[in-house]
Amino acid sequence: MEMDAPCSELAGSGARPILVCVTGATGYIASWLVGSLIRRGYDVHATTRDAGKASWLVSALGGYKSRVKIFEADLNKDGSFDEAVKNCQFVLHVAASMQFDISAQENIEEQVKTRILEPALRGAINVLQACARAGSVKRVVFTSSISTITGKDDAGDWRSIIDESSSESITRVWKMKPKGWVYVISKLLTEEKAFQFAKEKGIDLVSIIPPTVAGPFLTPSLPASLRVLLSPITGDPQFYPILASVNSRLGSIPLVHIEDICNAHIFLMEQAEAEGRYICSAGSCSIPELTDLLSSNYPTFSSKIFDENCCKTRYPVVSSKKLTDLGFKFKYGASDIIQQSVACSVEDGFLR
Ligand SMILES: NC(=O)c1ccc[n+]([C@@H]2O[C@H](COP(=O)([O-])OP(=O)(O)OC[C@H]3O[C@@H](n4cnc5c(N)ncnc54)[C@H](OP(=O)(O)O)[C@@H]3O)[C@@H](O)[C@H]2O)c1
Repeated sequence: MEMDAPCSELAGSGARPILVCVTGATGYIASWLVGSLIRRGYDVHATTRDAGKASWLVSALGGYKSRVKIFEADLNKDGSFDEAVKNCQFVLHVAASMQFDISAQENIEEQVKTRILEPALRGAINVLQACARAGSVKRVVFTSSISTITGKDDAGDWRSIIDESSSESITRVWKMKPKGWVYVISKLLTEEKAFQFAKEKGIDLVSIIPPTVAGPFLTPSLPASLRVLLSPITGDPQFYPILASVNSRLGSIPLVHIEDICNAHIFLMEQAEAEGRYICSAGSCSIPELTDLLSSNYPTFSSKIFDENCCKTRYPVVSSKKLTDLGFKFKYGASDIIQQSVACSVEDGFLR
């Protein structure tokens, strides 16, 4: 897919374009974000661990590739982000390692600490250290995750409204080790550390909390979050349990369109008065509702892969009120997201 012509808001104003650094730019969210920034007239420093693997991104930018400079940077290498962040006014820190496979049965907690959590924390500090050194950065937007949020209160009862204060407890997750627990702890600790370090260094940091992101994509292969969303169709044994675990933590599957999540990153970058964390969810559906919407958009699909305890009709509301009160408007709802995800997956050849 190649980007449409830009409807630049800054370009043509005569002002020098503002530089934004986007980390993890070959990923699903960050690649779309690079396109969204360029369309608004920003210039982008895009990071990847391997510039050779980013050639598809440069091609996807079409005539606007000169607005993006690719930098090699690795969260695990100290000082790695310094060059990319230099002269940038904003940093959108989207990159995160998605490798959570710990095969060892023994010393699992120790292995998780040394092989996943410590590198994840070092990575966040690495990016923020680069921001502190650059001296040009006005705001950092950190991409968190809805996995840091729970629909249940301390007594284990469902809340009626889930908001930014409904944080998962690290101690509980560490003790119970539910499905996906390493990712949950990694995102919780990284976000906490990022806020702490930013405060110490006087860096203005806000975080955005995406639920499952779906819709169209620029990446050469189908993004993992679309595989999760489509898992009731595909029955994928790797991805369906992730959907089921989101459902058991939140009581539903909250969703956001890729365009909206990218617009919200830029909105939070631009809004001087933004502070703290922001959930960015356009709407939720239960697994049976999701299955019905998938069926209506993909008629050849007939099976219903969900267990009985997913069938609640009432579930907590995942609130994006803090974001919408600041002025953000969502363009797409849950049914648009599902319809477009199915259409793009058919076009891609993933669904036949
Ligand atoms: N997609 C969703 O539904 C969703 C929902 C909630 C939160 N999020 C969060 O959003 C962010 C992006 O998610 P995504 O779905 O776009 O993931 P993704 O497609 O896997 O992209 C992540 C990117 O991070 C980069 N990365 C991985 N390890 C790295 C390392 N050691 N050093 C530097 N870069 C590294 C990779 O780029 P290179 O391989 O080029 O280095 C990769 O392209 C993540 O922080 C994720 O937790 C996503």
